[in-house]
Amino acid sequence: MADKEAGTFVNEKELKRKKRIKLAIYIAIFVVFQVIVITAFSLTVLKAKTPKFRLSDIEIKTLTRNTSSSPSFEVDITTKVKVKNTNFGAYKYDNSTVAFSYQGSSVGQVAIQKGKAGWLTTKNIDGVAVKLNYQALTNMTAASYLDNELSTGVLTLNGNGKMTGKVELIWIMKKKKSAEMNCTIAINVQSQTIKSLECK
Ligand SMILES: *[C@@H]1O[C@H](CO)[C@@H](O)[C@H](O)[C@H]1NC(C)=O
Ligand SMILES: *[C@@H]1O[C@H](CO)[C@@H](O)[C@H](O)[C@H]1NC(C)=O
Ligand SMILES: *[C@@H]1O[C@H](CO)[C@@H](O)[C@H](O)[C@H]1NC(C)=O
Ligand SMILES: *[C@@H]1O[C@H](CO)[C@@H](O)[C@H](O)[C@H]1NC(C)=O
Repeated sequence: MADKEAGTFVNEKELKRKKRIKLAIYIAIFVVFQVIVITAFSLTVLKAKTPKFRLSDIEIKTLTRNTSSSPSFEVDITTKVKVKNTNFGAYKYDNSTVAFSYQGSSVGQVAIQKGKAGWLTTKNIDGVAVKLNYQALTNMTAASYLDNELSTGVLTLNGNGKMTGKVELIWIMKKKKSAEMNCTIAINVQSQTIKSLECK
């Protein structure tokens, strides 16, 4: 009788111990799972990615050039400015400028008004008009280089800019992010068309 009772008692103890182990295993699995979920979440949703700021669809309205001893050009363009936001939250950007240059010399610039690119979207700012002009006056090296480009056909310009702003992750977390533009524009002088446009 006493033996039987003791046996039951041991079995119950053993059962409780097994239950506790099972529970501990469940908790451990749950914790590991949570860690994985939180890590994945913070690596994707909560990670502020740098937006992309670039030019696209440039159209040449007019192009005039002068290949004299002081060569010059004047190009009127319209361009699309794109702000690509790959974040799980809106990107609010400040006023900025896109500056155009030829061989390091400034040839024109345009202001981009502050705005917002929604989460996982690309904001397109259409029909941005800019007048670009340059005259090589004093630098003979630059003058002959431009003269050569204008006569042989491909004029290469650069578009650069820096946009500052904030990414709003899950509406409350704000992270500063700035996007830089570095575009190389090759213009076919004869046909007055864009030969290539590459943005980094
Ligand atoms: C070209 O430039 C020269 C020197 O600056 C000027 O005398 C001439 O009028 C210009 N030609 C045109 C078509 O603009
Ligand atoms: C942004 O630009 C607009 C117009 O170009 C101007 O009215 C506004 O004051 C500027 N905002 C800032 C913060 O500079
Ligand atoms: C003249 O232009 C060339 C080519 O753009 C440049 O390398 C050089 O530094 C310039 N020289 C001066 C004195 O500005
Ligand atoms: C833009 O990219 C070109 C190479 O394509 C590089 O030489 C130049 O330094 C870059 N400019 C800026 C401002 O990052």
